[in-house]
Amino acid sequence: MVDRIPSPDRKVRRASHDAVSHPLFARYYARFSKRAEPAMAPVRAELLGGLSGRVIEVGAGNGLNFAYYPGTVSEVVAIEPERALRQLAVDAAVRAEVPVDVVPGAAEALPVKSEGYDAVVLSIVLCSVRDVARTLAEVRRVVRPGGEVRFFEHVRAPRRGMRNVQRALDRTVWPRLFGGCHVGRDTLGALRDAGFELVAHRALLMPERGLRMPTSYCVLGVARRPELSDA
Ligand SMILES: C[S@@+](CC[C@H](N)C(=O)[O-])C[C@H]1O[C@@H](n2cnc3c(N)ncnc32)[C@H](O)[C@@H]1O
Repeated sequence: MVDRIPSPDRKVRRASHDAVSHPLFARYYARFSKRAEPAMAPVRAELLGGLSGRVIEVGAGNGLNFAYYPGTVSEVVAIEPERALRQLAVDAAVRAEVPVDVVPGAAEALPVKSEGYDAVVLSIVLCSVRDVARTLAEVRRVVRPGGEVRFFEHVRAPRRGMRNVQRALDRTVWPRLFGGCHVGRDTLGALRDAGFELVAHRALLMPERGLRMPTSYCVLGVARRPELSDA
């Protein structure tokens, strides 16, 4: 059962549900993501391994994470704003072994109550949200004190040459072509700035071998909302 915040006005709710609409990207991602699964499967398994209790996944896409939630998870609320991807996520939820409730909504205004979740999952989504600081403030609001954030994101490259390429792409074509995605965000810095403790993280390249792409520089890890915090 989702503790959603009710909106008194249906029109307002519909506007916020469809606040993210990238139908072409949605079609592209639905196909591309399946082709990438052989490489992504072990990453998804590591991302979600050991989770338990109530989990909220933000920007769940077509639901490719759902198959990797362990049985110790009692419930997943999967937020997805893009209508076509959300429909695919609903199909994936039916096949999942843990209960998954797919819900429309945007990361910057999560439609759930505060401190209701043991963990938040962010998987290739901080690259795409409109406002990273606001998203992480929302993540911090909905996770209980001491709760976890599991993240897998492509991030800013360590070397200057590629960082310049990323910056140029982010200012021009990339977000337009790929559903608002940015390739050069400093995700670890943003998590720290939002008041999370970084528990563990590691850098990885996707794909591991071969040509480095602007999206190749990834980070996989766990952050925690401190037990004693005001927000
Ligand atoms: C690259 S896909 C990743 C999907 C999925 N998390 C996965 O691991 O395959 C990025 C997802 O973020 C979603 N997204 C984009 N902007 C968003 C926002 N403001 N709030 C929530 N989700 C958003 C997109 O609709 C898309 O489903």
